[in-house]
Amino acid sequence: MLNIALPKGRLGEKVYDILERAGYPCEAIKANGRKLIFENSEQGIRYFWVKPSDVSIYVERGAADIGIAGKDILLEYTPDVYELLDLKIGKCRMAVAAKKGFRDDGRKTLKVATKFVNITKKHYSGISRDIDIIKLNGSIELAPILGLSDVIVDIVETGSTLRENDLDVVETIVPISARLIANKASFKFKTKEIENLVQGVRLQIAEND
Ligand code: PRP
Repeated sequence: MLNIALPKGRLGEKVYDILERAGYPCEAIKANGRKLIFENSEQGIRYFWVKPSDVSIYVERGAADIGIAGKDILLEYTPDVYELLDLKIGKCRMAVAAKKGFRDDGRKTLKVATKFVNITKKHYSGISRDIDIIKLNGSIELAPILGLSDVIVDIVETGSTLRENDLDVVETIVPISARLIANKASFKFKTKEIENLVQGVRLQIAEND
């Protein structure tokens, strides 16, 4: 049995569609209930819905053999897993943003609000800029508007959250997309099953490109 952690939400639904087309269907998963685990014993697969930011925890600890996680989560938490494939969906970018017209004159410590503390630290230590990190858990865009921070480091997808709050991108840190990851021991013991699935998914991605 191959245990697959899917990220709950719109991205996860897209991922499931790809897996279904790749030959790993599980009809029951489409019901709109609160059930979290779905099994297709004929195909030897079990899906579960997990919070997107938790996928890499399930995979790293072996509760799931494989999973789909955003590159943002992999960069932030650096889980000890194999990254097998870029699914080329869930595309967005990690960016620094601020109020329109903001210029960093570099004279005082920069106040940065973010959910992504490690990505932020790495980015600013790379350019030797002193920062004060304010860790938030959501609605990060509020921070510069209310004067809680000078800038934010956050995900920008369509750009509408920034636009509607009069913020601009200052710089892009890294492009992001969904990745297929595998538990290291599972990859060793279920190599064939995992490689078959990866190959099936790869073909679907090529068709979508
Ligand atoms: C994410 C991110 C931005 C927004 C970007 O927030 O933190 O706020 O999406 O998307 P856009 O460029 O298409 O507007 P999410 O919806 O995950 O909620 P959050 O505020 O709780 O982080």
